[in-house]
Amino acid sequence: MEDYQLTPLIPAQDLQKHLSAIAERINHDYADKNLVLIGILKGSFVFLADLMRLLRVPVEIDFVRLASYGTRSETSGQIEITKDIELSIEGRHVLIVEDIVDTGTTLAWYMERLQTHQPASIRICALIDKYERRSVEVPLDYVCIRIEKGFVVGYGLDFSEKHRNLPGIYEIQFIK
Ligand code: IMP
Ligand code: MG
Repeated sequence: MEDYQLTPLIPAQDLQKHLSAIAERINHDYADKNLVLIGILKGSFVFLADLMRLLRVPVEIDFVRLASYGTRSETSGQIEITKDIELSIEGRHVLIVEDIVDTGTTLAWYMERLQTHQPASIRICALIDKYERRSVEVPLDYVCIRIEKGFVVGYGLDFSEKHRNLPGIYEIQFIK
């Protein structure tokens, strides 16, 4: 078993402030539209639950679960949908809700897949933009927090399925 420590990065109260700011922008941008939020499981469910309660535009929600094959800490190019959305998004305004964007591989792949359903628009809302390792450009329309690098957990994000329940965001420090 690998040994590690958790260092506090963003307290829960700060997250709520970031969410309020993003929600205001979304409320403004979609003022006269019906929105479909698509959460990418599992990591986005806490973020999506808090975000949607700050939205005043009519919203529907759905979820997709993507599996990617690669090493534990890096996504490979091979991605598969293991649970697809059930709503029809043809002609709809879609906002993808993602926990964290790292290389960008996962979202770029999924956006391309969603385009084939012919939605009216697709935008991305990410809790965290982790930009150092970005290798595929993806348009991140709404971002709460930007970090350069590091592995983070809490508020839905996991390390080997652990720590999703933490109310704030923590950085993992591996002990050699
Ligand atoms: P990407 O395809 O490289 O952008 O990988 C994005 C996915 O990797 C995210 O949706 C997360 O599931 C996972 N991921 C990347 N960095 C972290 C992290 O720091 N903590 C938890 N999960 C992460
Ligand atoms: Mg994810």
